[in-house]
Amino acid sequence: MATDTSPAPIHADNEVTSDWDEESVASSTQSLTESILEHVFENGRRYHRKSKDQYFFPSDDTEQDRLDLVHQLHLELLRGDITMTKFTKDPANVLDCGCGTGIWALDFGDVYPGSHVIGVDIAPLQPGWTAPNVKFELDDLEKEWTYKPNHFNFIHTRHLAAGIKDYKSYVRQIYHHSAPGARLELVEHNLNSYFCDDGTMPKNSAYNRYFQALRTCYKTLGVNPLLHGKEYQQMLEEAGFVDVKLEEYKVPVGTWPKDRKLKRLGWITLESATTGMEAYGHRLFTNLGGLSSEEAKKLIDDVVSTIKSGKEHVYYYEFYLTARKPE
Ligand SMILES: C[S@@+](CC[C@H](N)C(=O)[O-])C[C@H]1O[C@@H](n2cnc3c(N)ncnc32)[C@H](O)[C@@H]1O
Repeated sequence: MATDTSPAPIHADNEVTSDWDEESVASSTQSLTESILEHVFENGRRYHRKSKDQYFFPSDDTEQDRLDLVHQLHLELLRGDITMTKFTKDPANVLDCGCGTGIWALDFGDVYPGSHVIGVDIAPLQPGWTAPNVKFELDDLEKEWTYKPNHFNFIHTRHLAAGIKDYKSYVRQIYHHSAPGARLELVEHNLNSYFCDDGTMPKNSAYNRYFQALRTCYKTLGVNPLLHGKEYQQMLEEAGFVDVKLEEYKVPVGTWPKDRKLKRLGWITLESATTGMEAYGHRLFTNLGGLSSEEAKKLIDDVVSTIKSGKEHVYYYEFYLTARKPE
């Protein structure tokens, strides 16, 4: 399904402001049956204690709002659909890996009332009450899964790469727990490289300095920050999935594009980056990158100001992969 966000050049608007005149959409609801609810505070942000050495993003309200905003970005990429995968009937057993605030799982359960949806995450970001067909669990998806083999009819995984050190084995577990004929939708973005086609991003851009520092930290952490669409595709095929399809969306960062739809996507990424650059970077820079809190803050402020200025016409890729486990 090629769309107007796929790899065509994005044309810049000559008059850029960082405003967009619409409110974002966020929803939430739910139920947690387990209680590993302790958090720690660092640099003014809250982190989940149990997962803090595995996944370096915060768990506070600011981060949860950001995740819900990014959910909106994906709805817009998919023109309002909750998945790229099309279903002829409600898939019976559905797993949402690394469900975050639970927003996708709840939306999916709403659209497919005949499905039983489990949202699983290492951190308790999910709401305390839920829809009848959606439940939330806490677990580390890098450990051996306790679900039944050949069980799920649809598995959804979005933006987990920062928390998964061995992505191949993660994909193998997904395959093992998928029922014959099950569908998979895997969504990732390039964690640590940003692109610019028109030379507006100089070599010493704050982007380059920020992402160079981030790449170094991810390497120390043992996470591959440079996986791209084709590599995910290969992992799915190697695990045994068939009909593996890859769609790549160019997503602008900031409101610099001329096209209205792309400008709106860029506004969402700008809003997300306003707190996201700190969420991605601060703990990593100060714990693994050798930066002081002040140095980290300066790097983050520089990149956020660059995005807001709209002067550097930068974009990144969202990779959408769909696949099927053979019958
Ligand atoms: C960037 S957020 C994406 C959330 C959600 N998938 C979405 O698209 O809105 C990544 C989520 O994965 C969770 N996570 C990271 N590593 C994990 C792991 N090893 N096992 C389970 N969840 C993990 C984090 O706690 C976080 O909620």
